[in-house]
Amino acid sequence: MGNPATDEIEQLGAAAVDRITGAADLDALAAALAEVTGKGSPLAGVKRSLGGLDADARREAGQVLNRVNGDIGRAAADRRAELEAAVRAERLAAERLDLTEVRPDRSVGHLHLVTQAMEELEDVFVGMGFTVAEGPEVEDDWHNFTGLNIPAYHPARDMQDTFFVDLGEPGDVVLRTHTSPVQLRVMERQAPPIYVVVPGRVHRNEARDATHLATFHQIEALVVDEGITFGHLAGTIEAFTRAYFGEGFGSRLRPSYFPFTEPSAEFDIRRPDGTWLELGGCGMVHPTVLANGGIDPERYTGFAFGFGIDRLALARHGIPDLREILSVDVRLLEQF
Ligand code: PHE
Repeated sequence: MGNPATDEIEQLGAAAVDRITGAADLDALAAALAEVTGKGSPLAGVKRSLGGLDADARREAGQVLNRVNGDIGRAAADRRAELEAAVRAERLAAERLDLTEVRPDRSVGHLHLVTQAMEELEDVFVGMGFTVAEGPEVEDDWHNFTGLNIPAYHPARDMQDTFFVDLGEPGDVVLRTHTSPVQLRVMERQAPPIYVVVPGRVHRNEARDATHLATFHQIEALVVDEGITFGHLAGTIEAFTRAYFGEGFGSRLRPSYFPFTEPSAEFDIRRPDGTWLELGGCGMVHPTVLANGGIDPERYTGFAFGFGIDRLALARHGIPDLREILSVDVRLLEQF
């Protein structure tokens, strides 16, 4: 094409695009754009000189000029997008909030010592053939008391002074005072043979001190099958004692009373040094309780035992005061 103006426009355009693409930041881009397209730019000079060309050459040069201006515009837009993205990325990196706390020794934390004890106990019982069952922490009077052979006037209710929930009939809804109500709940939903353990949180209206909490944890075992005897109860407690505490430990039963077992006993653990640790209550499931659970007491017998988990966990770790387990002090909790 014999139009020198178009060659010059192409060259200026290519140089302008190079300038723009090479701009290092947004300020440099603005400066480059002013330089290559502004009033004093070479391209503006060429444009002004188009007036001196003849009509055909002017039209041709005008078209090239339009295309080159378009190229420059697109190059500037592309470069601006790139530079803006880089600025955003830089700002995000600078403003990033690291919410993780990395501690050099224990970066992942660990379970609370009562939860640890609960899981260890579950493991031991599962190893002995039990399955784990659960029941509600907010109970009705029937499951917590009446269905367990503890009628309203019964003095045994005094031993389990209760938090009532303001729901339904007055006095009918309670925070469960023991895990024994789950005995009835399991019997209601499952026919014998029953071999379950029930860990859970329980509540009593207690003044807190070094050996009492108003909220604590128990684990309950329930066995219902044909031909279950008191010997099975004693043997299971002995086997559990050795499995959980170790060889060298033993158990004994002392006659006691619970309305929902007959006969009833307390069971103690004998430590290797010959001293005794009072652990929990147990007995043969009362025939009335079996019947309340929908099980024929003429055909089936069963045993149950239950004990507190918190004191056990404390004894294991040599912590003298039960209230420490409610502590939120990581310096204490970290130690276990
Ligand atoms: N539920 C009784 C208590 O909390 C313990 C127990 C459980 C006794 C099972 C007998 C059988 O004191």
